[in-house]
Amino acid sequence: MTDWITRWQEGKIGWHKNQPNSRLIEFIDCLKLSTNACVFVPLCGKSVDMLYVLEKGFKVLGVELSELATRQFFVENELHFSTKKSGKFVIFSSENIDIYCGDYFDLDASVLNHVSAVYDRASLIALPLALRAKYASHLYAIIPAGCRMLLLTLNYPQSQVSGPPYAVNKTEVVSLFKGFECQQLQCFDDIKNEPKFQRENVDFIEKATYCLRKK
Ligand SMILES: C[S@@+](CC[C@H](N)C(=O)[O-])C[C@H]1O[C@@H](n2cnc3c(N)ncnc32)[C@H](O)[C@@H]1O
Repeated sequence: MTDWITRWQEGKIGWHKNQPNSRLIEFIDCLKLSTNACVFVPLCGKSVDMLYVLEKGFKVLGVELSELATRQFFVENELHFSTKKSGKFVIFSSENIDIYCGDYFDLDASVLNHVSAVYDRASLIALPLALRAKYASHLYAIIPAGCRMLLLTLNYPQSQVSGPPYAVNKTEVVSLFKGFECQQLQCFDDIKNEPKFQRENVDFIEKATYCLRKK
């Protein structure tokens, strides 16, 4: 965990993008969000995808380990915010958004009982194998039944380059999210747009999008 804090302190945040993710834009409707619905964004960093969700008229509840990342989200997007301590977390709040600053694994179901969807981009795939299983079972434990999830993953030959981001294939997604209905919406090789992976001579990098629903 200290690794992530250090990465933020040193500005080594190559995963961060300044534009909302094109797959979020394309597939957000699969979450079937009603007006005022709240979207949970685990391991949220300072993702501008959260702004996109807000601009669509929905609410956001994020969780992020790094206080620096959390502050940067509000400051860089010129959102006035307040903070309050709640158990192991400091909650950063602005209109329609709360970011719980602390450890995802300390969140409990009472915090998420009003959430109707989950958005995961670069969160599951940020974690090594053993933690991915813990992440998925914790998610199952804390979100309400019927909750939908938009999950974006990468898959590439893990033997050719080490993570993070880690390779996660469809078999693993199905196995991790056993308590969910799972539909793969899209999967394509995008090696032509991944110069870092090209430099490592990686054969392919598949980008997959899933819509899941907790049973
Ligand atoms: C690869 S980044 C992705 C961030 C974001 N999802 C995005 O798309 O930009 C992973 C993030 O997870 C955070 N993180 C890692 N472990 C965490 C944990 N146990 N609880 C909360 N946040 C965590 C890191 O600080 C980092 O910001």
